[in-house]
Amino acid sequence: MEPNIVSINDFSKQDLFNILKIAKRMEKPHPNLLKGKTLATLFFEPSTRTRLSFIYAMESLGGKVLGFDDASTSSAEKGESLWDTAKIVEKYCDVMVIRHPTEGSARLAAEASSKPVINAGDGANQHPTQTLLDLYTIQKTKKTLNNLSVGLLGDLKYGRTVHSLVKALSHFNTTFYFIAPPALQMPQTYLDELKKKGIKFYTESNLQKVSKNLDVLYVTRIQKERFPDPVEYQKYKGYYKLDTNLLKHIKKNMKILHPLPRVDEMDRSLDNTSHAVYFEQAANGIPVRKALLALVLGKAK
Ligand code: CP
Repeated sequence: MEPNIVSINDFSKQDLFNILKIAKRMEKPHPNLLKGKTLATLFFEPSTRTRLSFIYAMESLGGKVLGFDDASTSSAEKGESLWDTAKIVEKYCDVMVIRHPTEGSARLAAEASSKPVINAGDGANQHPTQTLLDLYTIQKTKKTLNNLSVGLLGDLKYGRTVHSLVKALSHFNTTFYFIAPPALQMPQTYLDELKKKGIKFYTESNLQKVSKNLDVLYVTRIQKERFPDPVEYQKYKGYYKLDTNLLKHIKKNMKILHPLPRVDEMDRSLDNTSHAVYFEQAANGIPVRKALLALVLGKAK
């Protein structure tokens, strides 16, 4: 397996199963597994779940954490390049986790660094560790990853979580329903790749037309920060507002996932239904990120 976790494309189906298996084992405590190791967290963009669950994961395995969560307090503010930042931080840590607004930034940092780099989101490109916890959640709640009908809803153009997830689910004979306003549909390159692989997919803007077919509905927010024009964002803000009306048009066992944060696309009235698994999904970030840290540091059992 790759020493870095930069893109979900770098992982075979077997690699994905292996990570999920290790994550399951990480549900149990391993308090000294990464004793003496240090994680650096370089967050050039805001985060709650990813950053905190990485910190929690590292500390609960006995490791230490240093880093920043606000790029304006780092020397990037003085013009230091990401390449140089990675070259310096490698001297202070054993592994680094990077979130950055530029697509390809994690790959660049991995080229600069002699220590493993984990991509915590690079612009609108990918968020591979989110995808691994999404797979873990789907497997846990649906008891399989195979042959599912999965709806991805919201901002499919700029949403990095859906980009990584489509790539990963392509290994499992998924039927995809891409539910988005036409201007925010899944980029053509992803659709072309699915076509080439013979994987079934449908594009739609009206959730109600397809909701009865779905085993999993993966909801995402409209990614305000990625719109080059704020007027464009205003057009799509509030495009979807899911509430308990959705429940009239879905399968009994359909599960709703959301990488979070949510804005206004999903009402809290759904939270206490048997369909909502998004808080459990966020909690699954801990065993999955423990597994990833152990793996890249050569300590996975
Ligand atoms: N899902 C996710 O990446 O959340 P954060 O932005 O809070 O890390």
